[in-house]
Amino acid sequence: MYQSQALIGITNARKNPPLEQCVWPADAMNNIPDWVYTSQAIYDQEIERIFRGDTWNFVALEAEIPNPGDYKRGYVGATAVVIARAEDNTISVFENRCAHRGAEFCRSSQGNTKEFVCPYHQWSYDLKGNLQGVPFKRGINKVGGMPADFKNADHGTRQLRVATRNGVIFATYSDKTPPLEEYMTKEIVEEFDVPFSGKRLKILGYCRNELPCNWKMYHENLKDPYHATLLHSFLVVFGLLVPGIKSIVFADKAHGRHGFMASAKPDEIYATVAADDKAEMRSFSDNLRLRDERFLDYVREFNSPWSANMMTMWPNLIVQRQMNTMGVRQIIPNGPNSMVMQWTMFGYENDTPEMTRHRLRQGNLMGPAGFLGLEDNEALKFVQEGLRNSSTGNNVVKLDAGHQGTARNLISESCIRSLYRYYRDVMDIRVAEKAA
Ligand code: FES
Ligand SMILES: [Fe+2]
Repeated sequence: MYQSQALIGITNARKNPPLEQCVWPADAMNNIPDWVYTSQAIYDQEIERIFRGDTWNFVALEAEIPNPGDYKRGYVGATAVVIARAEDNTISVFENRCAHRGAEFCRSSQGNTKEFVCPYHQWSYDLKGNLQGVPFKRGINKVGGMPADFKNADHGTRQLRVATRNGVIFATYSDKTPPLEEYMTKEIVEEFDVPFSGKRLKILGYCRNELPCNWKMYHENLKDPYHATLLHSFLVVFGLLVPGIKSIVFADKAHGRHGFMASAKPDEIYATVAADDKAEMRSFSDNLRLRDERFLDYVREFNSPWSANMMTMWPNLIVQRQMNTMGVRQIIPNGPNSMVMQWTMFGYENDTPEMTRHRLRQGNLMGPAGFLGLEDNEALKFVQEGLRNSSTGNNVVKLDAGHQGTARNLISESCIRSLYRYYRDVMDIRVAEKAA
């Protein structure tokens, strides 16, 4: 049998069209063409219009840089940035690109410093990204060096606008991005504030993995409750998400670009699933049992109807809350056919040692090999492989047809449709005329 790995790196030219050939099929709501996921030209336009457009991009948690001088390397879209806290306690985000010859000068993933010094020719920057020092600026014995009119102030790093909410840091390239809360919209702010209420966070650990799929597939995955009941054995056997439980797939009312998939788990550990539903769900198995049932203990700690909430905030943040395991996931696009996922797991500073242990134990649900994350990674890889070199080129999103946005049933693709309606607008993609 061929290993699909052998084909990675190759995209059929037909699946990699230039922008002018990217025309959405006429029945735009119910179909998504493959080039949305495979075209380099589309990807390049996404970097400009979405990640460098009027969007707030998640970059870090304040708990990662609590003290003056603390910094972290990060990304806005695929662009490397530094997130730093200056002596005056303000937070700055600036491109990790030396103003001299472009070196990515900040090399450590995290640390504390008084200044950043580029390894190549030792230009130095302060914690806000301003150029401080240029060695031999006046040459040696006044021979060589920079021209007399060279001013450090004209040669800093590219600095981004920054906004924070309850310990979460966002950055934007655009002056036109509205204030953060307006950008998020009311219902998203309310759900965001459940884990981020202002309580001080404690970082519990990181995971990082590459997924050989387009970055938008991860957004879709969390707007796709249909797969959750079919792909994830763990979710259905242990009653975390089964047909019939209280759940919602929400899309923000302004654009349909942010959303959340939330559910309220019943008290029993093992799911009660109707015989008819079981017959539809091949991943359901009555034989699966936990060796250690503490794993699914649920300590009610929030005033929320939902025991689980997976929130997507366009374009690059997932806030994950599943019982007592919490984290943020950052989507880092990496070309049309790849993305990197950065997972940051957290609890609270005032957690007891037992609660921290419980969060860490339950954290095994998440991450690259988590009981609830594993299958998504693989399924999305399969999709990207299916798209890149096949002879046909269309994806069908017709479940719950005729509806867009929020759905209260699990067998729906209505939130995926609202996301792509917004996406076509922001990307300025033409829709084909219906044939007469
Ligand atoms: S490239 Fe950074 S100092 Fe020259
Ligand atoms: Fe999933």
